[in-house]
Amino acid sequence: MSIKFKELPGPKGVPFLGSLFDVDYPNLHNQFQEYADEFGEVYRMRIGILDLAVVGHPKIIQYILKERPDGFIRMKKLDKVLRAEGVHGAFNAEGEDWRTHRKLVAKGLDIKHQQAFFDRMLISVDRLYKKWKRAAESGEVFNIQDDFMRFTTDITTSLAFGIEMNSLEEKGGSVQEHMDKIFPMLFKRINDPIQWHKLYRNKTDREFDKSLKVLDELIDQWIADGRKRLEEQPELKENPSNFLEAVLVESENGGGFSNDEVKGNLMTVLLAGEDTTAHTLTWAIYLLTKHADYQQKIQAEVDKLLQNEAKISDFNSLANYKFIEGVAYETMRLKPVAPVMLFEPLSDVVVEGYEFKKGSRILMHWRHAATKDENFSEGKRFYPERWLKESKCPVHNMDAYIPFGGGPRFCPGRNLAMLEMKLVLSMLFKNFEVEMVTPHEDIKEIMAFVMKSSDFNVRLKNRG
Ligand code: HEM
Repeated sequence: MSIKFKELPGPKGVPFLGSLFDVDYPNLHNQFQEYADEFGEVYRMRIGILDLAVVGHPKIIQYILKERPDGFIRMKKLDKVLRAEGVHGAFNAEGEDWRTHRKLVAKGLDIKHQQAFFDRMLISVDRLYKKWKRAAESGEVFNIQDDFMRFTTDITTSLAFGIEMNSLEEKGGSVQEHMDKIFPMLFKRINDPIQWHKLYRNKTDREFDKSLKVLDELIDQWIADGRKRLEEQPELKENPSNFLEAVLVESENGGGFSNDEVKGNLMTVLLAGEDTTAHTLTWAIYLLTKHADYQQKIQAEVDKLLQNEAKISDFNSLANYKFIEGVAYETMRLKPVAPVMLFEPLSDVVVEGYEFKKGSRILMHWRHAATKDENFSEGKRFYPERWLKESKCPVHNMDAYIPFGGGPRFCPGRNLAMLEMKLVLSMLFKNFEVEMVTPHEDIKEIMAFVMKSSDFNVRLKNRG
């Protein structure tokens, strides 16, 4: 006998609106986890008109992720909100449409392109190095999160569009400042039971509109530049040098992409590539300063591998940075920037004994399982060594580890993200000691589409 949706346990809340008044949106991801302690791995929660099956069961999650795009789709409202703002690309496309978008995105982000762009990435790493050198010399206290955001913006725009951007050395008015306004507003609109902005636009809506317009115009300009490049250098049609060119060539070859779809995919990659990697780097700094002995362990690795060099310069050496890799994996386990995802089944289905109806809403959260001892030994402990080959950790359940999603729609940018993280963390710890200035206990998780940290400040000291 399978368990029906209406039989699921869950918080009662008030009639009709359920837990709407108990919900604290910036902290919603933690509320889902807390309720899981009380009601288990599958429970029901009503938030206004949204009646959710909340799932933290690793096997069900894996099933849903794998059965896409034909068995499950992302929640329809997500697509509606994103499309309304001109974002239509691999992330929110479904079915056949998604298959075409996905092929393009995967091609634009493949290892061959990353290798070709490696030298460009080193320019951004060098800018970061010089900036931090100056900060260390002056003893400046600064927000390192802001630097990470600028760094990932520069990398993504260069890799995806062939645009030479220098947000790291610009003051104010950068693309990244406009992008900062996008995710929080999208998150708000996805959660708003009533789309108030359609009736009245307040100051934040107007600022969001302005930022979106700036980005829209920029992307138009980049597309025009890309078309011109392809005209002037037809050989690029055979071998596109970046993501934008690949999309344009495909579009010309009858790939069926409208101009809006081309734009939507560019915006998707820009949004998906920036915040996720920057916030993961930020969380790594939080954890590494909280567990200071790990700074020394990273330093031991970079000192051995880099010798007298200040930064990585050889693409092929990246695979050797196993400890940093472990730090990144462990950071994503404890502080995942995408801890929840929303899905809808395309037909009635029973998974692991639970019934899910066609068109119902499933909220999947996975950190609860990823921090349980039954899935990872001493699950709440920051222990990067567990990811090393020689690790003696007896429990290591990869079904409960989903920082980049899974199945056919797993994140196509994960290799790029890992590459960026290795470049930055190796340079940082080879050259500097990082001191956290803001007390760790004052640093909070904030959910705004991605799970970011509240602002914090650090001070760098040159290593002797
Ligand atoms: C630490 C960094 C990152 C994390 C944690 C992350 C995480 C994720 C997650 C959880 C998904 C949903 C996967 C699913 O539905 O199964 C996703 C999708 C996606 N990510 Fe990432 N991501 C990161 C970096 C990047 C970068 C650097 C790019 C591109 C420059 C990127 C592009 C995308 C795209 C296009 C999708 C949609 C894929 C699809 O639906 O087929 N991501 N990412």
